[in-house]
Amino acid sequence: MLDEESARLVEELKSFNARLGLKKRLGGVQYGRVIEYTRAYQFLHLQAGHRLLDIGTGKHSIFPLFCAYMNPAVTCHITDIGEYVNVQRKIARRIPQLAAAFETGRVTMEMQDATALSYDEESFDAVSAISTIEHIPQDGDSRAVREAYRVLKPGGKLVITVPLAHGSAAFDTHRKRTSYLRKYQGEPTFFQHNYDDKTLESRLLEAAPFSETSRELWDDGGFYQQKWCKRVPMRNTLKHLIGWWLTELCLKKYRMIETYEGSRALLAVVRCTK
Ligand SMILES: C[S@@+](CC[C@H](N)C(=O)[O-])C[C@H]1O[C@@H](n2cnc3c(N)ncnc32)[C@H](O)[C@@H]1O
Repeated sequence: MLDEESARLVEELKSFNARLGLKKRLGGVQYGRVIEYTRAYQFLHLQAGHRLLDIGTGKHSIFPLFCAYMNPAVTCHITDIGEYVNVQRKIARRIPQLAAAFETGRVTMEMQDATALSYDEESFDAVSAISTIEHIPQDGDSRAVREAYRVLKPGGKLVITVPLAHGSAAFDTHRKRTSYLRKYQGEPTFFQHNYDDKTLESRLLEAAPFSETSRELWDDGGFYQQKWCKRVPMRNTLKHLIGWWLTELCLKKYRMIETYEGSRALLAVVRCTK
């Protein structure tokens, strides 16, 4: 359940998404992401003159463009390790104000590895990593947090969202297909870390000497994992047609919870201030 301010922001996010074309309108704001984007946006508290770095934007995220749209005096740096991040420029063309922001350099886009950013120390007021750093193998998630810390100005904010291990112990997921830049060659490829209370602390919150850290846990009662992913045939095709309905369902199902163990918590929002 979202508070009143978050609920208002969700409406802004949905109407922004709908302006990005029919495909986005039908697909809705991706299940879970609607919570992640809203809570991340609220925490970053962007102000005129701020510089935002989004890492692992990928091709589908609307988060950094939404930030740029809502804050015409904020500079947004869209980055990803994959070349497909170039799609972001195409998405922005739908909204003249964003297309212009690309032209003037207020919004930029480039390929960057979150574990080895090319930016100087203390160059950003805000860094976001929405469902990104869990996809970096081994201790890449902690290295990415340290890099974010390095490029943040004192007092700057980092927001990270990651998947949880549904109330049980942390585990890694591997897949028999290509996972981002890791090509499938017969051996399962690393897909993602799924966190529990302990690994949220040790791998993320304690990875760098932030002055303040906190986390929020969100639980959808098992709907997504137990029903949608296991029981719905052709769900990836359906998602493109009735994703808007999944967005609404997500908003009804998700609850913020305090205690991880024994829950079905699906995602965490991690907040750090330098
Ligand atoms: C789940 S996807 C996209 C998430 C996106 N932020 C969103 O809101 O939907 C994760 C992204 O992380 C990117 N990624 C994986 N490893 C990375 C790394 N080392 N540095 C930067 N991006 C990385 C992938 O290329 C992919 O686009």
